[in-house]
Amino acid sequence: MKEKIDHLLSEIKAKIISNKQELEAFRIQYLGSKGTIKELFNDLKSVPNENKREVGQLLNNFRIQTEDLFNSWKEKLEESSENKSTIDTSRPGNSEGIGSRHPLSLVRSEIIEIFARIGYTVSEGPEIEDDWHNFSALNFPPEHPARDMQDTFFIEKGEKEMALRTHTSSVQVRVMENSTPPIRTISPGRVYRNEAISARAHCFFHQVEGLYIDKNVSFADLKQTLLYFAQELFGEKAQIRLRPSYFPFTEPSAEVDVSCTICNSKGCNVCKYTGWLEILGCGMVDPSVLEASGIDSKTYTGFAFGMGVERITQLKYKVNDLRLYSENDVRFLKQFTSGI
Ligand code: PHE
Repeated sequence: MKEKIDHLLSEIKAKIISNKQELEAFRIQYLGSKGTIKELFNDLKSVPNENKREVGQLLNNFRIQTEDLFNSWKEKLEESSENKSTIDTSRPGNSEGIGSRHPLSLVRSEIIEIFARIGYTVSEGPEIEDDWHNFSALNFPPEHPARDMQDTFFIEKGEKEMALRTHTSSVQVRVMENSTPPIRTISPGRVYRNEAISARAHCFFHQVEGLYIDKNVSFADLKQTLLYFAQELFGEKAQIRLRPSYFPFTEPSAEVDVSCTICNSKGCNVCKYTGWLEILGCGMVDPSVLEASGIDSKTYTGFAFGMGVERITQLKYKVNDLRLYSENDVRFLKQFTSGI
């Protein structure tokens, strides 16, 4: 009987089972109620008493090994059938749509790159500002009528009255307070004004403001910098013109127009048949603004400028409703996919 068990053991180990039917046949043959193992247990009765213990153990061992083998074949077959039925590794994958960058981000990055090429760093600051940085340091005394130009949202923060910044000039005050000239920086960011929302106005928008302070900075430097900027952004044929204007923090101040890129200055409804489009405000930093931030106005002069990113985007991409920028309509956004 010992030899018989040994022989059966090598027989089952040599078996190759390749489907469920073969596995079931294996089970019936060896482990079934009329199978080999059952028979062997029956035969155990006829083994002499002194050998019973030893042969019984062998038989038990054989049964365990047969069961283990059966289970491992079963597992293998289940695994491979799962794989076969559900996963076809040769199929092409599902294509995931590529997202797009927001048009305002695209234009903001482009503006930053243009100024980075002539040495401007980027500075950022808080959107909730105190009166000093948004107004007083910029030469808006309390009760000054120029504060009304800026339709401010005021908010309470503890005891202190704060405001949502109305321009990123506030960031430039922080830069001037914390560094010594030469300063050459631009501050991009979101700003807020209390305006009714329409196609032409919104209660928040985005700006990029620039500041250059050094010895002997002149109005000519300002003009040349802005001409460089306009030509980088709108092409080398772009021209600029400056019109006198007023800002509390600059003197003299100007508004800057660029030649209409839509009609090549021939006159169209975007430039209102003038051939010019207004794109930014600028001027020489008022000496009292330099002094308020601890910069000696006898040694240093500087210029500043500020533009709306929405306005530039409108001109570059011909978007004529400001509300589209914040509605997140995918039909609008996906038109900018190629701009990544
Ligand atoms: N801060 C001004 C505004 O928001 C823009 C500006 C900046 C004008 C710098 C002149 C110089 O309207």
